[in-house]
Amino acid sequence: MKIKKLKPLLIKIFKKHGLNIEHSKISANALINAELVGAYGHGLSRLKMYCDRISKKVINPKPKIKIKKISQSISHIDANNSIGFVAADIAIKKAIDNAKKTGIGLVAVKNSGHYGLSGYYAEQAVKKNLITMIFTNAPPAIAPYGSLKSLFGTNPICFGTPTGSKIPFILDTSISMINRGKIRVAARNNQKIPEGVALDQFGNPTTDPKKALKGVQLPIAGFRGSGLAWMVDILSGVVTGAGHAGKVKDPFDDFSGPQNVGHLFIVFKSNLFEANFKKRIKNNISTIKRLPKIRSVPEILFPGENKFYRYKKNIKKNIIINQNIKNDIKKLIYN
Ligand SMILES: NC(=O)c1ccc[n+]([C@@H]2O[C@H](COP(=O)([O-])OP(=O)(O)OC[C@H]3O[C@@H](n4cnc5c(N)ncnc54)[C@H](O)[C@@H]3O)[C@@H](O)[C@H]2O)c1
Repeated sequence: MKIKKLKPLLIKIFKKHGLNIEHSKISANALINAELVGAYGHGLSRLKMYCDRISKKVINPKPKIKIKKISQSISHIDANNSIGFVAADIAIKKAIDNAKKTGIGLVAVKNSGHYGLSGYYAEQAVKKNLITMIFTNAPPAIAPYGSLKSLFGTNPICFGTPTGSKIPFILDTSISMINRGKIRVAARNNQKIPEGVALDQFGNPTTDPKKALKGVQLPIAGFRGSGLAWMVDILSGVVTGAGHAGKVKDPFDDFSGPQNVGHLFIVFKSNLFEANFKKRIKNNISTIKRLPKIRSVPEILFPGENKFYRYKKNIKKNIIINQNIKNDIKKLIYN
């Protein structure tokens, strides 16, 4: 489907579910971006989930979002259970404003929901020539190292910096071997997941996405990944006032209340310490890119480069929508 046609359709669906026009546009843009960068687990496959949560009043379609100024640099946002896209949009813009005024912006968000891709917000800061680190927690999916029970989310870690070229450096990675969204997409499409990424509920390795969703996902790099997931839970859950230690609700399966996801946005000027940052980062990247390469790698890419090229290619094409999602869209518009 052409983006020109899809976008008004999504806006119409969100408006029908009670979001105002501005919030509907923000949400539609975030979903389309996820499709364009190839993050299908965070794109249209989640549309029905968001609408179901709004209908069941566990996402507040008319939130009264409060922004508390702690200092010129620091703000604390209570998102009042808004859709996560809206909370994150307000938060990154606030962090950018604070950073422009004082050099650094620090914004914590509580009572939010799933906001999609951290990199989407990081790009906004990097486009303004700022460096950023963004954290969000997520519902239990990963067992802390040594435990038999899932508690940490796939808790992505995101770092973005200008590169002196038009391609931003965006390291945006979940700490699980595989993104939970990808497992959900595989389950919906009856596909297998790779080996070594999940265990079933009895602790046995599995390639069945449905069994993986009932079991545990494995963290990257054993106890190191578990430690990183814990760090993200502290930064985005404990520090912000949001849910933490396994309290963030699963958006697909738990309608007993709002998710209470937390996010933390850190944004700062790239030239705070060295005026010639641009020259230094260009030099850093070109040094690494010129290294001798292993045979199977034609080019050393920096994080974010692959998504940038994917986006550029996909923006010229139609978005392919599978039958399950087409059915969702029809029902959400006409029912
Ligand atoms: N909101 C949430 O609750 C939540 C939870 C988990 C993940 N996410 C989002 O899901 C998205 C996908 O996460 P993921 O872990 O599957 O990402 P991924 O594995 O696709 O990519 C991870 C990082 O590696 C980089 N990369 C990939 N191939 C590369 C290569 N050949 N050379 C150099 N760098 C390369 C990417 O640019 C990216 O920065 C992220 O945007 C993340 O924010 C959101």
